[in-house]
Amino acid sequence: MEIIKKKLLFSKLWLFLSISLLLFSCREEEDPSKNNHIYKPTAVSPSEIFPTEFGMPPLPADNPFTVEGIYLGRMLFYDPILSIDSSISCSSCHIQEFAFADPQKLSTGVFGLKTGRNAPSLFNMAYSRKFFWDARVNTLRDLVFEPIQAHNEMAMTLPLLETRLRRNQKYIDYFNKAFNTEPNLLDMSKAMEQFLLSIVSKDSRFNQFFPGTNSHLLNASELRGAFIFNGLVDFDAQGKTKGADCFHCHGGEMAQQQNPLMGGIASNGLPGAVVDKGVGGITNRSQDLGTFKAPSLLNIALTAPYMHDGRFNTLEEVVEHYSTGVNYDHPNIHPQMSAHGGIQLNLSQEQKDDLLAYLRTMTDFTFISNPAYSNPFK
Ligand code: HEC
Ligand code: HEC
Repeated sequence: MEIIKKKLLFSKLWLFLSISLLLFSCREEEDPSKNNHIYKPTAVSPSEIFPTEFGMPPLPADNPFTVEGIYLGRMLFYDPILSIDSSISCSSCHIQEFAFADPQKLSTGVFGLKTGRNAPSLFNMAYSRKFFWDARVNTLRDLVFEPIQAHNEMAMTLPLLETRLRRNQKYIDYFNKAFNTEPNLLDMSKAMEQFLLSIVSKDSRFNQFFPGTNSHLLNASELRGAFIFNGLVDFDAQGKTKGADCFHCHGGEMAQQQNPLMGGIASNGLPGAVVDKGVGGITNRSQDLGTFKAPSLLNIALTAPYMHDGRFNTLEEVVEHYSTGVNYDHPNIHPQMSAHGGIQLNLSQEQKDDLLAYLRTMTDFTFISNPAYSNPFK
């Protein structure tokens, strides 16, 4: 009798235990609001991002593109909470309608402070391994920490930033979706890296024309400009001057030379004493003094003012610089700038107009209105 009772009790207990275990494990699996829920981000193939004409860029193996990672990076890019007083976002200085450059000569950071240099345009960065005018940073993942902490940009401290992100429900959700983590600085930088790498400009008329086979896409003036740009015309009586040779440093389908030795980093003979040491300020080598990264000329008509210090207000002024204003006494002027024996090009008015017309074909209107890069909070 006793034994039977005990057995019964035991089996009841067992039933109770197994039922509650079952319930418990069900709840564990099905509650989507739980933070440790495993969310599988949606992979994005690089071939959906990069055009075949540009080829496949080298990409970081430990940070594959996902829909959620790119979106998180885009949220961060447009979010002023990345700055100490929540007033400035990356997009305050990198504005899409200006190809992510800033129409101000020097940009304004927190407390009205000014940057030391002109903010460059942002696109096709996956094809580059040198960032900033002085090429001091090699990856976008590392780069993002500079503006965030610079006293005259966002002036943020990293511990405070991490705390802010961890208290923000939309970031709790999106870090979980993109990386299955709580908000943290490494994944923040990886998400921004994904977004920045995904920004591509490829649809300008120049790009449709490149490498020159679709010449019907350009009008006569633009075509003459292309010849001048690419050094394909003889236009002085002695035959010494072969076009303006812009292509040496701004060549290829991305209108930018990547190789530092071939003009990818150079002095283009700006007049006046060297105030900003440029690459020389990083390497401390005299041969780098006053040299800068040669920027891409895609979207150049949108990104005034020009040069690292924003000294030229218009493209006309830039062309005038290359035509008559080159400082051949610059200590490190690039050999490609003095290929004509150190004499000014002295372009005629028609040649200048043609060159300008060609530069204006490099504007990519699809890019500056592409919703994939726009403010996700609007
Ligand atoms: C207050 C204005 C300002 C803010 C805010 C700002 N930037 Fe910049 N950005 C600049 C300036 C100025 C430079 C050029 C600095 C230099 O070369 O020394 C620059 C350069 C860059 C470059 C280098 C581009 C190239 O081709 O070399 C990248 C990338 C960039 N910024 C991304 C960002 C991101 C991401 C953020 C937000 C985390 C950000 N910036 C916030 C002004 C700003
Ligand atoms: C030897 C290399 C070299 C050659 C040749 C050259 N450039 Fe440049 N270019 C540069 C460098 C380097 C800079 C950035 C200089 C700086 O900011 O101090 C630059 C800047 C520019 C800018 C301003 C870009 C910006 O975003 O602010 C324009 C526009 C430009 N070049 C157009 C031309 C044109 C047009 C020609 C031909 C007439 C030409 N370049 C020839 C190296 C070169």
